[in-house]
Amino acid sequence: MAPRQVCEAALKQNFFARKTIDDARGGTNESQTFNRSLGPVSLAALGIGAIIGAGIFVLTGAAAARYAGPAVVLSFALAGFACAIVALCYAELAALIPVSGSTYSYVYIALGEIFAWVIGWDLVLEYAMGAATVAVGWSGYLVSLLASLGLHLPAQFTSPLVGGGGLFNAPAALVVLAITSLLVLGTRESARVNNVMVGFKLAVVLVVIIAGGLHVVPANWAPFLPENAGEFGHFGWSGVLRGAAVVFFAYIGFDAVSTAAQEAKDPQRTVPVGLIASLAVCTVLYIGVSAVLTGVVPFAALDRPDPISAVIDAIGLPWLAVVVKFAALAGLTTVILVLLFGQARILFAMANDGLLPGLFARINPRFRTPAASQALVGLCVAALAGLLPIDVLGEMVSIGTLAAFALVCMAVMYLRHSHPETPRPFRVPGSPALPALGVLACLGLMAGLPWETWARLFIWLGVGMAVYFAYGQRHAKRGTPVQVRSR
Ligand code: ALA
Repeated sequence: MAPRQVCEAALKQNFFARKTIDDARGGTNESQTFNRSLGPVSLAALGIGAIIGAGIFVLTGAAAARYAGPAVVLSFALAGFACAIVALCYAELAALIPVSGSTYSYVYIALGEIFAWVIGWDLVLEYAMGAATVAVGWSGYLVSLLASLGLHLPAQFTSPLVGGGGLFNAPAALVVLAITSLLVLGTRESARVNNVMVGFKLAVVLVVIIAGGLHVVPANWAPFLPENAGEFGHFGWSGVLRGAAVVFFAYIGFDAVSTAAQEAKDPQRTVPVGLIASLAVCTVLYIGVSAVLTGVVPFAALDRPDPISAVIDAIGLPWLAVVVKFAALAGLTTVILVLLFGQARILFAMANDGLLPGLFARINPRFRTPAASQALVGLCVAALAGLLPIDVLGEMVSIGTLAAFALVCMAVMYLRHSHPETPRPFRVPGSPALPALGVLACLGLMAGLPWETWARLFIWLGVGMAVYFAYGQRHAKRGTPVQVRSR
């Protein structure tokens, strides 16, 4: 057989076919169909838009009250440190391979098609399920805001059918559909709305830090690290660890910046900047908010769905309570927006490779967005958000995201080894030690999750494999040569 036939025969049987870096960068004409409308500020705002949401506005209280006490500050620092390593790895890969699809595309190049499929399928947990989870949180905040204004929505239309005793969570579904319409209409328009809302939520978070900072009672921070209550995860250092696994949710979303690479101006420079800047800003704010929360009221009083309100009640600024609820709604809105945006871009990349039907790779010529795919994603997420309770949705998001993060760190190590010569506009310092530490940190946080969550992850991945063998493996476009070019 001629070498070319050998190569093609190998490709036909080889599920591990790879794209080359050059191929991924220029092999499709995707960049001619998307608009490059996002600069570094919009990209950082996209990251902050996806990061600050239910995690800080809702979960901080429970993490402090149940697991870590005032040392929840350390939990935030620990989770932030793990995410910082992962963000550096993302930045290296995003600069090396500036295409949409995020982790999916990186893993395709590093490890091949079947691993890429697994990770693309896994990312549905982070993006689509993440958006549905936050939409349910959004609905909860809306109900509480309207109730504080004397308006009471009928319970059967604000609670899910499954495990909620209602019929359909209509606000959760409607907010997803409204945001989907905006995303269908244009990326630039969506980014503008995102920028405004991000500005508002940042301003309110800063006001909470400053106003709360003036009312800190240092006695509330003593003891800073309450003694372990006799059980793993209940205070003491193990509580800090458990707290870190809980507040990890608050950091999810920075990687969405990398899904926008094909709509970014000068992506090799702006995507790493957007990734790292958004994570740095949020880490500093999170540490500030958690220090203020535990400094103003005793940590045991924070075990409520709106812990920031506890602080505002304590400092006696009722007007701020309403503003914070609006900011939380705006904050949650941008998280949903960016996660829905990212999901459509990941499906776009997968469909471009033939692993999903062509509908997901279609760009609407008028709006220059993947309008049909975006609408379909919106309908599915709205149905999930309307029918399922927040805990069933939320528990899958962290494990799916951590698995993707671990693979990104591995991809950096692999590509450093397989493509040492390829120019990297951004390099993770201290490789391979730092990416290896990132893998360990992600696996460590995953190990802290309950076995039921692991079981659901494996079931989800099993369904994914069935879909792959029924569709993706038969339709995959494997026109690229197996050998990898470096330059
Ligand atoms: N980080 C996002 C949030 O906290 C998912 O809502």
